[in-house]
Amino acid sequence: MSGPTPLLRVTNLQKSFAGFRAVNGVSFDVGAGEIVALIGPNGAGKTTTFNMISGQTTSDGGRVWLSGQDMTGAKPRDLWRAGVARTFQITATFASMTVAENVGVAFMATDNLLQSLAPAAEHYRHVAVALLDEVGIKGEANRLCSTLAYGDLKRVELAMALANQPRLLLMDEPTAGMAPAERGHLMQLVSRLASERKTAVLFTEHDMDIVFGHAHRILVMNRGELIAAGTPTEVRAKPEVREVYLGGSRVGQP
Ligand SMILES: Nc1ncnc2c1ncn2[C@@H]1O[C@H](COP(=O)(O)OP(=O)(O)O)[C@@H](O)[C@H]1O
Ligand SMILES: [Mg+2]
Repeated sequence: MSGPTPLLRVTNLQKSFAGFRAVNGVSFDVGAGEIVALIGPNGAGKTTTFNMISGQTTSDGGRVWLSGQDMTGAKPRDLWRAGVARTFQITATFASMTVAENVGVAFMATDNLLQSLAPAAEHYRHVAVALLDEVGIKGEANRLCSTLAYGDLKRVELAMALANQPRLLLMDEPTAGMAPAERGHLMQLVSRLASERKTAVLFTEHDMDIVFGHAHRILVMNRGELIAAGTPTEVRAKPEVREVYLGGSRVGQP
């Protein structure tokens, strides 16, 4: 790992749960404008790695750097202010509020307003609706989140993350529950963000067409460790990836 200071650098990240090593010495970089996929079988340690980067989980060891600044141990709130936004494997929206109100709250969090939620969110409505337009669900702005299809909830979450104008966007299984055509559309949006805003993107994903079609670089995790890293072409060619991750089947072929 050399060259200019990367937007995100993690070194030797470690996390155990009751003696079980969920993440065991993971190191990688993500550059500004780069889209990196973290893949691996269920239980590999992907979500735990995300949680350590976004401050949801404290690490047992290792460091997290943002543009050369040591952010190890920082709280989610401080990381949000430093420009780290994330979406979750299980969507996290306020079910009893509308789509636009949820995104409005995310803007409020960015502007650091502490007011009663719904009225202030109304104040942020115009910016929220503009962002909903960008993620393709402007038409759902007035619906309660509790009434949305799962795929649309994922878009609301993305809009909430984008309200922060993140330098680093972490997305844990962003397209889960979406129809294949919708998945491609969402990832095209993410690709545009990465190239236009120079946002660094780290995502996990089970759909190999999405991974190999949209990631600039792929990191492969198994049993808490990185077992391979490289461009889609490089990773696809690695026998150990086929072996561990896909039981010997072809990787990422359309
Ligand atoms: N809060 C927790 N308590 C105990 N074990 C956990 C916890 N979170 C994750 N694990 C365990 O750590 C391992 C990695 O989980 P996770 O990071 O969710 O993997 P992935 O996202 O790659 O599927 C799994 O064996 C999981 O059961
Ligand atoms: Mg996970």
